[in-house]
Amino acid sequence: MEIKNVTVYGAGTMGHGIAEVCALAGYNVTLVDIKDEILQKAIEKISWSLKKLEKKGQIKSSEEVLARIKTTTDAEEAAKTADYIIEAVVEKFDVKTDLFKRIDAVAKPECIIATNTSTLPISKLAAATNRPDKFIGLHFFNPPTLIRFVEIIRGNKTSDETVKVTKNFAKSIGMDYVEVKKDVPGFLVNRINLRVWIEGARLAEEGVDIEAIDACARYRLGMPMGLFEVMDFSGIDVIYYAGKAMKEMGFEFVESKLIEEKFKAGKLGMKTGEGFYKYPKPGAYFRPKIRKSKAYAVNPVKLMSPAINEAAWLIRNGVASKEDVEKAMKLGMNYSVGILEMADNFGIDRVVEALKARKEERGYDEYNPDPLLLEMVEKNELGKKTGKGFFTWKYEKEEFGRVIYEKRHDIAWIILNRPDKLNALDTNLWTGIYKAIDKAEKDTDVKAIILTGSGRAFSAGDDIAEMFSWKGMADARDFFEKIALPTVEKIIYSEKPIIAAVNGLAFGGGMELCLLCDIVVASEDARFAVPEARIGALPPIAASLGVAVFGKKMVEAVLTGEEIEAEEAKEIGIVNAVVSSDQLEDVAREYAEKMRNPAPRSVAAIKKIIGEIYNAYSQAFKVAMREILIATQFEDFKEGMGAFLKKKRPEWRGR
Ligand code: NAI
Repeated sequence: MEIKNVTVYGAGTMGHGIAEVCALAGYNVTLVDIKDEILQKAIEKISWSLKKLEKKGQIKSSEEVLARIKTTTDAEEAAKTADYIIEAVVEKFDVKTDLFKRIDAVAKPECIIATNTSTLPISKLAAATNRPDKFIGLHFFNPPTLIRFVEIIRGNKTSDETVKVTKNFAKSIGMDYVEVKKDVPGFLVNRINLRVWIEGARLAEEGVDIEAIDACARYRLGMPMGLFEVMDFSGIDVIYYAGKAMKEMGFEFVESKLIEEKFKAGKLGMKTGEGFYKYPKPGAYFRPKIRKSKAYAVNPVKLMSPAINEAAWLIRNGVASKEDVEKAMKLGMNYSVGILEMADNFGIDRVVEALKARKEERGYDEYNPDPLLLEMVEKNELGKKTGKGFFTWKYEKEEFGRVIYEKRHDIAWIILNRPDKLNALDTNLWTGIYKAIDKAEKDTDVKAIILTGSGRAFSAGDDIAEMFSWKGMADARDFFEKIALPTVEKIIYSEKPIIAAVNGLAFGGGMELCLLCDIVVASEDARFAVPEARIGALPPIAASLGVAVFGKKMVEAVLTGEEIEAEEAKEIGIVNAVVSSDQLEDVAREYAEKMRNPAPRSVAAIKKIIGEIYNAYSQAFKVAMREILIATQFEDFKEGMGAFLKKKRPEWRGR
């Protein structure tokens, strides 16, 4: 059957937009409402919107499109000629079913009736008609003219043919779609949304700053708006009622006190001038100021785990495919990263842990990890870090001595794995780092490199025991010139950005490695120091390049050898971000992901320029390398190393 005439019931927020989209696609549209004034207003809005499109050159004539839209208050009459019906009247079960009975009686037998309901069960609405096989959910997003995406929901009797025709119809009006295969409360997008919003509201109830939660969403999770921003925009009443309706239909969740409080106080968001944020006047759009600097106060894994759990439920129950879950959140909510990819980024094991911890804290059953997630953990399908999670990712693992190289799709993780010696840098580790970076450099999939330590330390510095065992100048020279220097140069001249994720101590050579990395993310308990002079040696990188780039504070660090706490390191400029240790790997990954956006050629060029800056101080660095070689020949060096190993105070003789 060919569709020519589309009838849209309800000319409110959604109905008028749906009518416009259908008319734009060339359909003859009949728009129905209960009062002429409402229809008049709807036409004014459509006309305004079409004129804008005309001005932008996106359509030839707004008049021509508008001429395809008729209006009427006669519901039955409008049903008679329809080939496809879309219902978008108020969200009231009785109003909708009453309308369906009336139009079902007069509409052509082959006409499909689609409902735009957000919360009512499709199957129950369908039961009001004698054509449940030709009844379907077609859920648009506000505004339909901009969000070119719909959820197509099957009722329990919807026929395959009706689904097929509806998919084609959606395509014909320029909508991408997902198929929601079972009629579950909230369908797909709103089930996930509600989990995110509720968890955000709960964290806020527990004292987390709303702005911090929104900053995490906007700046770290790739959402276009913060959660509270979206709730204010959509209307807190709408969310409150939708939650209630979904709960009545069996969607299990404990309501948020905070949302209820706002609702009861009439602070409904933008439309009342105040919700979670304040607005210049009721109804006035305003983008709340959300500071990026607050984004690290919230753990994204904790915030998103309930939503990921919901997504797992949808998949396990055959409600939607993985691909459709991703598509729905990307197209419906404008997420830049799908919810399942987020999970694969976090690690499914960490998602499960976060859920269990929340279950422990709040006691709510909704935090019980979905069996699908538990099964994935069981099978070691943890996400990008094992090469398979919800999706399959490029993955490689290789060990270079005690350095682990892991390619997690497009990021290379280089892990110093000598935790028993606090990752002290011996020949084995230096060489391992060299080889691992070399491998990452040669792999065109790899966009950025993350360097981190296993266990409690990033690296406690050069291996003093190994240095103490040097027999003479030749051993020292071999070490510096053949082992350490090539690795230092490898880092400086790497064409790919290198991010250090400092998980604990970064002393001596460990801190020097950080100075060479492009970005340094430190956990709150990370500490830095270049105490080489205290053991009769000197830190060649810190004393030359470090001082040149970071100034007096670095001079102080080199001369005193004193510890620098993470926050202070950030003030000096040797650390980009300080975060709680449970977020370290996420933030390092986020930095690495940001390096995907610029052109690889540009990144390589910028890296080359940075290398040149270091090169400009090569004279100082050469002197530093010479001085360290000389230092190894002094008695004080032996004394310093020996005292360190015996945990004694050295006695300097100046020789
Ligand atoms: P609205 O209140 O702006 O518009 C509803 C319109 O239906 C009103 O103009 C009303 O006069 C009209 N109406 C009421 N009874 C009628 C009848 N018997 N025959 C014809 N027209 C009738 O509501 P809105 O927001 O447009 O929502 C409509 C439907 O779309 C609801 O089912 C809602 O759940 C759903 N929806 C709403 C979204 C939103 O963001 N507002 C998003 C997606 C779905």
